[in-house]
Amino acid sequence: IFFVDKNVDDLSTYPQIIEAASYVKRDELVAFPTETVYGLGANAMSTAAVENIFVAKGRPSDNPLIVHIATKEQLHDVACDIPSVAYTLMDHFWPGPLTLVLPKKDAVSPRVTAGLNTVAVRMPNHPIALALIQASGLPIAAPSANRSGRPSPTTAKHVLDDLDGRIAAVVDGGATGVGVESTVIDCTSAIPTILRPGGVTKEEIERVIGAVDIDRALVEKEAVPKSPGMKYTHYAPKAPLIVVYGSPSFLQQVVNEKRASGFTVGVLTTEEQRDTYEADVVIACGRRSDLRTVAKQLYDALRAFDETHVHFIYSEAFPNEGIGVAIMNRLLKAAGYQQMMEK
Ligand code: TXA
Ligand code: MG
Repeated sequence: IFFVDKNVDDLSTYPQIIEAASYVKRDELVAFPTETVYGLGANAMSTAAVENIFVAKGRPSDNPLIVHIATKEQLHDVACDIPSVAYTLMDHFWPGPLTLVLPKKDAVSPRVTAGLNTVAVRMPNHPIALALIQASGLPIAAPSANRSGRPSPTTAKHVLDDLDGRIAAVVDGGATGVGVESTVIDCTSAIPTILRPGGVTKEEIERVIGAVDIDRALVEKEAVPKSPGMKYTHYAPKAPLIVVYGSPSFLQQVVNEKRASGFTVGVLTTEEQRDTYEADVVIACGRRSDLRTVAKQLYDALRAFDETHVHFIYSEAFPNEGIGVAIMNRLLKAAGYQQMMEK
C-alpha cells in the first residue's frame, strides 16, 4: 500500500507515485483512487497487462474497460474520428466523471475493448489518478477495483478486501468523492446516447449539448444493453436486497413480518429516517435532502451489511432524477431487480 496525500504539490514526481507507475510500465496491476471509485489500472497498450485485470477481477472477457488519460493530447493515442460533440463534452466535463465512447485506434489492445471497434475514454478528476497516468506516460485501462459482481470500492480498504494478493499495489488516497461510477455516453451514434448513468447527470449533459438518448436497456428490462457491462448482476451485498417503494411505515411493516418469521433483517435508509426504523441492523447512507451524499456512501453501506449477519436487506427507494438515476440503477442491480411497492 502506498499512502499518498492527494494535496501535495507535484504528485507526478512523488516517489510513491513513481514506484506505482513503474509497476504499470512493467504490465503489473495498480489500484488507484479516482473521483468516482477506485480503479484497477494496467497499461492500456499491452494485451498481457490487460489480461491480468480480467484474471484478478474474475471479470467476463466480453466486458470492455475504460481507458484513463491525463491530457487531451493522449486522447489521440487511443481514439480517432472524434466528433465535435465529443470535444464540447470534454471541454465542459473533463477532468470529471464522464466517459466518452469513441472510434478506437488500433494501438489500443483489443482486450481493452473486448473486440469492439470503439473505446471508452475518460480523464478522471483526481490528482493521484492524473499523476499516476502522467508518471507512467501511458493511457491506463481501469475497471472499478472490485471482484466482479461486488460493490465498487470507494476506499483502499474495500480494494484490499476484494483483491489483496492479486495486485501489485494500491495507492491509498482516502475515500473517493462522487461514490458512483462515471456516466458512459456513446458519441458514435447520431444523437449521443447514455449507456450508463453516473456522476454527471443527463440534465447536466443536456444543458451543454441539447437532447441526448438513453440506451433502451436502461429503461426496458428485455433490451440488450449496448454497454456490455450493464447486463451483469452487480454491486451485490451477500444478503438478498429488496428495494421498497413507499412510506417508511410500509417498509417497517415488511421488516416486522420478516422478523416475525425468525429472520434477521437490515434496513438501508438515510440520516433523516434512521431513528424511525426498528430492525436488527439499520444503516444510513447520506441525506435524502442531498442525493449526492447518498451516492457517495452507497457502496460503503452495501459492503457494511456484509459485516453483519442479516438474512435480508430492505432499502428505501430514491427519486429517479438527477444523480438519483445513477443511485437507483446501482441499487436495483444490487437487488437483482427485487422490488416491492406499497399499494
Ligand atoms: O468511474 C468509473 O468509470 C470507474 C473509474 C475507475 O474510472 N470505472 C468503471 O469501470 O466503472 P468499469 O469497468 O467498472 O465499467 C466500465 C463500463 C462498463 O459498463 C462497460 O461495459 C462500459 O463501461 N464500456 C467500456 N467500453 C465500452 C465501449 N467501447 N462501448 C460501450 N460500453 C463500454
Ligand atoms: Mg465496475
